[in-house]
Formats: sequence, C-alpha cells, structure tokens
Amino acid sequence: MSKLRAAARSGRGLQQGAGEGRKSPRRCRKNVSSHKGMLPPVSAQQSAYHLFSHPAEIEAFRKNLLAWYDKCKRDLPWRKLAASESDANRRAYAVWVSEIMLQQTQVATVIDYYNRWMQKWPTLQALAKASLEEVNELWAGLGYYSRGKRLQEAAQKVVSELAGQMPATAEELQRLLPGVGRYTAGAIASISYGQATGVVDGNVIRVLCRVRCIGADSSSPAVADRLWDLANALVDPARPGDFNQAMMELGATVCTPRAPLCMECPVKQHCKARCRVEKELEFASRRLLGKAASSCSQAPDIEECAATGSCSLCLPASEPWDSSLGVANFPRRAAKKQPRAERTATCVLERRGPRGQPEYLIVQRPSSGLLAGLWEFPSLALGPGLKEKQQREALLAHVQAWAGEAVARGRLRHVGEVSHVFSHIHQTYVVYSLLLGRDPEMASGWRDEMLERPAFRWVTQAEFQKSAVSTAMKKVWKVCERQNCEGRGSGQGCKRKRGADPSRAGQRKVEADGSLPPRQLSLDAFLKAPAGE
Ligand code: ADE
Repeated sequence: MSKLRAAARSGRGLQQGAGEGRKSPRRCRKNVSSHKGMLPPVSAQQSAYHLFSHPAEIEAFRKNLLAWYDKCKRDLPWRKLAASESDANRRAYAVWVSEIMLQQTQVATVIDYYNRWMQKWPTLQALAKASLEEVNELWAGLGYYSRGKRLQEAAQKVVSELAGQMPATAEELQRLLPGVGRYTAGAIASISYGQATGVVDGNVIRVLCRVRCIGADSSSPAVADRLWDLANALVDPARPGDFNQAMMELGATVCTPRAPLCMECPVKQHCKARCRVEKELEFASRRLLGKAASSCSQAPDIEECAATGSCSLCLPASEPWDSSLGVANFPRRAAKKQPRAERTATCVLERRGPRGQPEYLIVQRPSSGLLAGLWEFPSLALGPGLKEKQQREALLAHVQAWAGEAVARGRLRHVGEVSHVFSHIHQTYVVYSLLLGRDPEMASGWRDEMLERPAFRWVTQAEFQKSAVSTAMKKVWKVCERQNCEGRGSGQGCKRKRGADPSRAGQRKVEADGSLPPRQLSLDAFLKAPAGE
C-alpha cells in the first residue's frame, strides 16, 4: 500500500490547530475571508469540477446541511453557552477554550475538562490570574500541554493589553492572540461574533475533499489554500457559526474516515465522491455481465475534471482510484513521519512521611520543551545500546541525591516497561522502584552541593493523582500498582488500598520468566536487599 493511501485509510487529515501556536510567517495572516459569497478563482490547473460553481447549489448545500445540524447536533456544553450567553466577550472566551481543547482531542474527552475549566475560571479575568501550575493540574491527561499554557498567557495579554476585550474579527484574533491560528480565529469569530468566515480542520478537510473529489495531498500548502477558499465560499453568511460547526459535526459523525455513513449524509446529493463510487460500481457490474463493448473499456459517463492529468487537485496518477476504499479514496495526504523511538529510565522513589505514610518523589520538568513544567518521577533519558546493568547504575546515580543515603544497586527494582506515544516520540519508560530507609530524615532531599536542582516534592498517592503529571506518569504508577497487586496474590481485580505502595512492587524477586512468586512479603522483606543482586 502506498504511503498516501495508508494515510487516507488511517483517516489522518490536516489538523488545523495542532501547530497554530507556531505561526508560520508565510501562511498565518490569511484569515480574512476574501471570498464572502463569491466563488474562488479557478487556476489554470484546477477545473470548476472541484469547486461549487452554481450559487443555487451552494444555497442548497447550506440549507440541507443546516437542517440536518438543527435536528442532529450533539448537545455540547460550549454550544449551549455560545447560544445562551449575551456577553459576546464571555461567549468568545468560552468558544476559545473549547476550540483549543478540541485540537487533537476527541469531543468525549474534552467535555469534562471544559466543564471543570469553566467552573474554575469562568472569565478571562479569572484565567489571567491563574498560575501555570494550576493550569497544568487541570490540563493533566489532556495532552499537548503547551495549549493550556498559551491559552493562559493569551488571557493575560487580553486583560493587560486589550482592556479585557476579546478581538472580534478573525483577522484580529489571529494577529493579537498568541497561540490563536487561522482555524481557531475563524471558529471564534464565526461562532461568537457571527463573522462569515470559513474554517478548515481535519473533519472539514475530509468533507470538502469528498464532496469535490479532491485527491491531491491535503497537507500541501497549495491544496490547503484551495480548501480554505472553498470553506469561505460555502459558509452561510446568515448562520456562519452553525454552518462551520455543522461541517465539523458532519465530518466527526457521518463523513468519518473509515466507515462513512453515506446513506445518512444530508449533502449526499452534492457529493462527487459518492457519485464516482456509483459510476465505478456500475461500470464494474457492466463489465462483469459481459456488456463491456470496446467503447466501454473505461468507466463511462463519470463527470470528470476537465483538466485530468494536469489538475493539481485530482487524485495523482501515482495513486489511482481504489475501488475497495469507496469515498474514502478522499482525502489523501502524505504519510506522517514515524515518531522516533526513545527510552527513559524512571524511578518511583518512596519514603515514609512524618506520620509514617508512604510518600513519593516527583520532580518538575523544565519550563520549556516536551511536557513543560509538568511533574514526573525522577527520570533519565537512556542512550542507545545501554545494558540493563548500566541503565540501573545511571538511574541510581541520578536518584542518589534525593535518597540522602548510599543506596546499594540491588535495592533498585525493575518493575516493567510503559509505552507512551507523544506526537513525535514513541517513548518507552523503563520503570524501577526504590524504597528508602525507615528514617524519613535519611531521605530529606537534595544535598546542598548539588547544583541546578529542579523543583521537587514528596507527595502522597492522593496528591500525586491531583498533581500536574502526564498520562505517561500515571501509566508508570499503574504498572507499579499492578505489580504490587499481583505480588499480594490478589489477582486481576486487585483494588489499590490506601497506603498500598507501588514502589514495593519492585521489592519482589521476579522469576526468570518475569512472573512473581505468589507470596506476600513482610515490610522487612521489602526493605532488605535480596542476596545475589
Ligand atoms: N471540533 C472542533 N470544534 C468543533 C465544534 N465547534 N463542533 C464540532 N466539532 C468540533
């Protein structure tokens, strides 16, 4: 299967918003909808086949789509607020929050985060006063953490530099607010302020590519520009916010990547991909019935692009029509680069707190880069080719400073591995645990001579769960917890009791086949280094 076709099958589209914060000088100022109600210009290499050429068809498309949306739209909290809030500034803030959260994240996941966010910071002014720590705590688990940080920074800018007033046009939103790109600006302007400007996100790309048989790589800048032109030409000036949301809703619920529900589609009569599927089927069945005369050696009567062969929007010649894909022949986009593989050793370090309760060490990541400002168990990137013994030694040297005591290598226990895929990194965490001595003073923290100390905290299990930690670290916790459960012989259904310490999991001697002997260890046994290590 070719790379383009593989990408089409996987349903990946050009995800507006993903990189919106990183403004590209070439493309970021293009929001102004220059084609309001007019048809986009047709270049020499693109025939009208890929456009909406008749105003009556545009009218019918809008009418059918909006009637469907009015009947079938999902009941989502930000939609309710946008419909009921009379203060345009607050409307814009609410839409902004929802759109930032929805970038790269499913609606079902976002709802709870959105509700908690709006409860905690109901206004821009409230958000502007929040700390990054609070923002990261609320955002924990949603991923792409810079989104929350940028939202908060932009709210501060609105309050301090724009007198608390949100910009009211797509052009100004994009120009004045850091982290707001073409997509988010268009969404806020159309939904909150009624500006007749289109939006293009992954769902809209899919709908547009199918309705107009656009098979060229949808991630290329030239094709993306044509898609924005189309979106701007189609948007309903009477209900731009609803129209844009209806396009996204259609892509999310009906015109889905792999198994689109074409029979339920409100704009199927406008869909050239569907038309093409029908004609191809008709042709195939005629051939099967032996009716194919010499004049029928290729699919007849298919309305075609007049510029086939030289058209920059058609399926490329190298990627011809695949009958097994149906309408999912569209869209196409070049395969994404595979995430690079990295390995990191991480250690769940435990001590007894002042009242004898288990506490775990978390340290804060640098304020920029991946997972900026989030907390994690002490971790160390592993270079390629390190043997297990070398990994252990390197990790031990790394955590030694927090241990406050000399720790024998054998006390560091291997618990398992956790995989987590970030957007561009396939990370494997090699998880260890270490239970420190009984005297909490022994493990009092960083020695003065250590320079460049990152912020660190000893937290209880409950505090860990509430901290600004990534999903990957929660997985690390779970692996320790699971092994601890198994070590207790409680089987799969083991529910963690308060005070059951994941770091003890590693204190069990793991059999050569990786299994654990079914016996419960005493606390002393946990603390003692087994012989031979
Ligand atoms: N995806 C991003 N924003 C959306 C919205 N407002 N409605 C539906 N899907 C969306």
